Amino acid sequence: MEIIRVKNAEEGGKKAFEIIKDGMENGAKVLGLATGSTPITLYKEMTSSDIDFSDMTSVNLDEYVGLGGSDEQSYRHFMNVQLFDKKPFKATYVPNGKADDLGAACKEYDKTIDENPIDIQILGIGQNGHIGFNEPGAPLDGTTSVVDLTESTINANKRFFDKVEDVPTKAVSMGIGSILKGKKIVLMAYGENKADAIKGMVDGPVTTEMPASALQNHDDVVVIIDEEAASKL
Ligand code: F6R
Repeated sequence: MEIIRVKNAEEGGKKAFEIIKDGMENGAKVLGLATGSTPITLYKEMTSSDIDFSDMTSVNLDEYVGLGGSDEQSYRHFMNVQLFDKKPFKATYVPNGKADDLGAACKEYDKTIDENPIDIQILGIGQNGHIGFNEPGAPLDGTTSVVDLTESTINANKRFFDKVEDVPTKAVSMGIGSILKGKKIVLMAYGENKADAIKGMVDGPVTTEMPASALQNHDDVVVIIDEEAASKL
């Protein structure tokens, strides 16, 4: 893993954007994208740049079960507002959290990933070490599935909802195996509350108890962190 230490999320967003630009200059066509607070500065860099993304495809990591694009808390809505409405892509994929048959929708999403191999996968990390919504205990070679969110994740995400009871308890998430297929992975983390997860990811054993530790098995991972997130390394 290459570790890049930055002053803050703004500098981190700039670094990640440089990696995406370099990748695009070298033929990258598919970006794997994440939601949450962490990638917002990257998306700001992308939307304020003069780079054209209309030949690019994006594949997002996850979506809440029960929410769709018209729900303001859905990840589809987040992506539209943060990025796609301002910078059109050729195609944008987000798992369908409202599918009648979620099992079939997961299989369909794996097909989408296979048909659009991810060149650069952007990741954040949960305080418990989750990547995508692969919580501790998730198989390190998993594909897209419906997952139960842990209490820690529900609590961390309640800031986006009126009350904790409104936070969905399930999500559709790309699996860790699918994430590891990305040719290059860029994980960003900012703040002291990510320090334990970063320590476990970088220095701990590779274990299902720390999902991000699976990234140790990938040969092209860049970790962009501020001093607080790096404080336990
Ligand atoms: C989001 C995702 C999650 C987040 C993680 C960190 O699509 O897959 O793994 O990256 O929960 O969230 P923030 O950035 O809000 O701290």
